Amino acid sequence: MAHFEKAKSLNEWFDQRLGVNTLNRVLAKEYWIPKDINFLWAMGMVLAITFGILLVSGIFLLMYYQPNVDLAFDSVNYTIMQEVGYGWLWRHVHAVAASVVFLIIYIHMFTGIYYGSYKKGRELIWISGMLLFVAFSAEAFSGYMLPWGQMSYWAGMVITNLFSMGSLEMNGVVEWIRGDYVPAQAFLDRFFMLHVLLIPIVILLLIGIHFGALRLPHVNNQNGEEIDFEVEAEKYRSGNKAASKVIAFANDFMAKDMFVVAVFLVFFFYLVFWNFGFAMDPVNFDPADGLVTPAHIYPEWYFLWSYEILRPFSKDIGLIAFAFAQVIFFLLPFLDRSPNAVPASRRGLFNIWFWVMLVDLIVLTAMGKLPPEGIYSTIGYVAALVFIALWIALPIITKLEKKL
Ligand code: HEM
Repeated sequence: MAHFEKAKSLNEWFDQRLGVNTLNRVLAKEYWIPKDINFLWAMGMVLAITFGILLVSGIFLLMYYQPNVDLAFDSVNYTIMQEVGYGWLWRHVHAVAASVVFLIIYIHMFTGIYYGSYKKGRELIWISGMLLFVAFSAEAFSGYMLPWGQMSYWAGMVITNLFSMGSLEMNGVVEWIRGDYVPAQAFLDRFFMLHVLLIPIVILLLIGIHFGALRLPHVNNQNGEEIDFEVEAEKYRSGNKAASKVIAFANDFMAKDMFVVAVFLVFFFYLVFWNFGFAMDPVNFDPADGLVTPAHIYPEWYFLWSYEILRPFSKDIGLIAFAFAQVIFFLLPFLDRSPNAVPASRRGLFNIWFWVMLVDLIVLTAMGKLPPEGIYSTIGYVAALVFIALWIALPIITKLEKKL
């Protein structure tokens, strides 16, 4: 048994037992952040806060939701929306947060791509980020099943059908995933479990890994400058804060982060109170009916770009293109062959690559929402081809890039 002195304060009592002061020093007070970063670097914190909002609002919804095919629709649309005090508020908060979190994830991802924050030493930050993207996608999809409306049912049908692997017709796999021939009680049960238990646990673990992977390489900066964190931190500690290129995370940088979070929350609650409709599909206000297929089945806006990569091709090619779109972003740190971790604006061809990719994803998203007819289907087809061509071109153009 180790020797314990009598603690003189509550803080000391906890420090003796849990090392809270060491934790606070390593994770906050002496976690050095470069000064040369802009508001886009607050998106990680905005994401963490939005995930917190999703957890809390989800817990409130869980108190009244019924995971039963005969009761689920009413438990959401009547009990929560009309009978429980402020139930509507928690539902709107949850639905808007689930949609907005993807907007912030995309901004956070493209900030990382623009500034080359996935390069040497930071590959694991990127890969854990991509795993978070996949986990959030699974979380959003499983949550979408729960109100058991028409879109829940038919989106569940379409997405699980993908696992038949096209012409391979592996229908047994689809039935195994559904627990039935069609989405029914077993399906709702397992997606409920995934949504409220397994995937949130995975997300929490991944956020821990993401933060851990950031600790040693530190966050990048606007000019890709290599900073000697020891030297700069020493200047800061000795009081020469103006000359130092870094500041402490707590409380200095966190105050800036919280300013951006506050602005985000104004926007967020504006959506919750005045514009929540975009986060809910009107078709999903009809109860699930396996005998009536909706005229257009499309996913939520954040999945539209990858849906549009699946749609314009024949069944098997479409599936391969879709699978490609799901995994290719993971490989970015390895497909980008240039050592330059500087903003895209200084990287010649890569700058063009970046902007074409961004516009292409927006075009794919817009086309994914429209019916696949006439000019829309041609534009969608070309945009899908451009997406694939951009990834094939990436190693070539980055290999040619001059070392800065
Ligand atoms: C959804 C949950 C996520 C949370 C809570 C989260 C949180 C954070 C935080 C707090 C930071 C440090 C500050 C900042 O740069 O914003 C960060 C950095 C980073 N994240 Fe995420 N992130 C998430 C998802 C992602 C995704 C989907 C990607 C992309 C694949 C990603 C890639 C990165 C990269 C590359 C950095 C390093 C930025 C730099 O060094 O400048 N993250 N993340």
